[in-house]
Amino acid sequence: MPSESGSNRRPESGAFFQRDRTWHPPALTPGYKSSVLRSPQKALLSFDNTLSEIAGPVFGHAMLGELDNDLIHNFARPGESAIGERIIVHGRVLDERGVGVPGVLIEFWQANAGGRYRHKKDGYLAPLDPNFGGCGRTITGEDGGYAFRTVKPGPYPWPNGPNDWRPAHIHFSVFGHGFAQRLITQMYFEGDPLIWKCPIVRGIADKAAIEALTAILDKQATVPMDALAYKFDIVLRGRRSSLFENRLEGN
Ligand SMILES: [Fe+2]
Repeated sequence: MPSESGSNRRPESGAFFQRDRTWHPPALTPGYKSSVLRSPQKALLSFDNTLSEIAGPVFGHAMLGELDNDLIHNFARPGESAIGERIIVHGRVLDERGVGVPGVLIEFWQANAGGRYRHKKDGYLAPLDPNFGGCGRTITGEDGGYAFRTVKPGPYPWPNGPNDWRPAHIHFSVFGHGFAQRLITQMYFEGDPLIWKCPIVRGIADKAAIEALTAILDKQATVPMDALAYKFDIVLRGRRSSLFENRLEGN
């Protein structure tokens, strides 16, 4: 499909995968209290990227620190490590045709093993771990692959209903090849019974979409006597797109 005159959208090439806009949860999901004020009340408008958003300088591998992909150690005192179940999270960033996308900056942040964030607004009584900061980043390789080490985050209560708990989860931010290309989602853990009780997750009607946000235990990738492993692929768009919080699929 040729690009529109004056548009900076790249033309489609190859097979076209029709988007299904109906499966994304509505922005207004009253069971998730924050969505009442956050959800847009007027029709959305799409804007093309500006030239500086496309051509401006972005990240590179040079910006990564040695421990950016190791949350077990990147905030820990020398010789110490974070408390919790040691895990590896890995997977691939894929386009709509299942092809790996290289050079994608992935950032991740999470609560510690007790379910507490290192954030001044987090008042949960679970203690902070002095050796755990809770954030890191990495860049996908040639095949779209990524991996990082961390501890499994704990579930935590949140002021939504009288007794709502978030399942264990890791937040992900995915940057494309410009800073205007940012997608945000959350990863859950296979077998967690809280997934199906979470008001945020329950805003998603499609069970398959929830399962696509759930990392599976990957015994093959575990490190004996060290770390379990979970596999989580992120699909940027198309029929099997991951659900992203900050963008209706296809917009
Ligand atoms: Fe969270």
